[in-house]
Parts: sequence; structure tokens; C-alpha cells
Amino acid sequence: MSYSIAIDGPAGAGKSTIAKKIAKKLNFIYVDTGAMYRAMALFMIQKQVDREAEELIGTICKEADITIVYENGEQQVILNGSNVTKLLRTEEAGKMASFVAKNKNVRKKLVDLQQKMAKTTDVIMDGRDIGTCVLPEADVKIYLTASSKERALRRYKELVEKGVTCDLDEIEKDIIARDEQDMNREVSPLKKAEDAILVDSSNMTIDEVVERIIDIFRKKMK
Ligand code: CDP
Ligand code: CDP
Repeated sequence: MSYSIAIDGPAGAGKSTIAKKIAKKLNFIYVDTGAMYRAMALFMIQKQVDREAEELIGTICKEADITIVYENGEQQVILNGSNVTKLLRTEEAGKMASFVAKNKNVRKKLVDLQQKMAKTTDVIMDGRDIGTCVLPEADVKIYLTASSKERALRRYKELVEKGVTCDLDEIEKDIIARDEQDMNREVSPLKKAEDAILVDSSNMTIDEVVERIIDIFRKKMK
């Protein structure tokens, strides 16, 4: 039997940073499901598919062969034979991902892949629908959030560190728009699973959040 921890929440809440650290500490595999939606988005961008072309997205997604491999413990996303991992963290891919993620064929394809991965290994998986749809039986479910101001500031700092010029208000506006789209879509919207524990990281350090979640997991496993 394998263990699973589900972490859901809005953009910039700290899901991937925290999940990666917990995976190392517990010796679990970290599965970044957002990267799979971003890879699907990249495929649509490459094919010049319009983001509103629902029907076309639903058909053409079958041609995107997305597989996941691990290199030195880091998740790598292979799209039709090419490693696209480094191309996924752009704002363009994030925005497009939120559009393709509305499509039920896209979701079915990626959820199947995610469920297969969790069957055989201990996983900590982050996304939007992990606790509600992908792993409804997860041992621990966390809904990680923070105020939109704080989340925008975190993203802003990341970009500034990379030398990118950006506008904080613009980032916050984009984050709010993406949250709204993710929370209001028909298929698997972002919401807290009834049995998920809410963690608001607005005033917490990364290590505090990591410790809190590990503590919740250990208590549950006793
Ligand atoms: O995966 P998600 O979009 O939820 O967020 P992330 O990319 O892991 O985190 C966004 C940024 O917030 C990263 O630069 C983290 O270092 C920072 N951060 C955090 O994750 N948690 C805190 N408590 C404070 C800052
Ligand atoms: O890191 P960040 O929170 O900015 O985004 P991400 O986790 O990489 O996800 C990008 C987009 O993919 C989200 O805005 C969602 O629309 C979608 N997504 C989803 O619908 N379901 C998931 N399990 C993961 C991501």
C-alpha cells in the first residue's frame, strides 16, 4: 500500500515549494500536476489553437503524448518525445493552462496519468483537484492558501530575482483572474475538499508550513 498527500490551492500559495520539501523529508515522490496542464497548454500554443476553441482542444489533446520521468528526484515532463520542463513556467503557459484545464477530455487524460502514478508509489501531489477528484482517498488533504496580495508579492519577488521587469498590481490582477477561472469552471473546479485541512500561509514561513503538514501527516499515521 502506498501513502498519498494531496495539496490544493490557488496560484502562488506555495504548493510546489512546500510539496518538494516535504517529498524530500518523507522520501515521497513529488508530482506537480500543474506542469502537466502547462505541457498541454504548450502543445496547444505550438499547434496555434485558440484558447476559446473548446471542441478543437478536446479533440487535438489526444495527440499530445505526455509522460513523466524523474531525473535526480526532479520531475521532467516529456511532450511527444521532447523534454519541455524548462519551457513550462512562463506566464503565457500558466494562462493558457487555465483555459485548457476547463476541457473535460484534457482533464480525463491527465487525471488518469496522475492516478496511475499514485497507485504504486508514495506521493505528494499538488494541483487544484487532487483532494476532490484525483486522490479522494488521500491520507492527508491540505488546502493551502494565502491572500492574493501576498501571493502576488511572492511571484513578483521571484521575477525580480530573475531580472524580469514587472508590475505588482498587474501580477495580482492576473492571479485573481486565474483563481476565478479555476474556481468557477464546470469540471473539477478549485475548491477545498470537505475533509481537507485549511492552511493559510500568508504569515507563515516556508519551513513553518512544511513542519505543520508533516506534523498533520505523522499524527494521522499513528
Ligand atoms: O505552487 P504554487 O503556485 O502554489 O506556489 P510556489 O510557486 O511554490 O510559491 C510561490 C513563491 O512563494 C515561492 O517563491 C516561494 O518561495 C514563496 N513562499 C512560499 O511558498 N511560502 C511561504 N510561506 C512564503 C513564500
Ligand atoms: O504554479 P501555479 O499555481 O501558478 O500553477 P500550476 O499549478 O502550474 O497550474 C497551472 C494551471 O493549470 C492552473 O491555473 C489550473 O488552471 C490548471 N491546473 C488544474 O486545473 N488542475 C490541476 N490539478 C493543476 C493545475
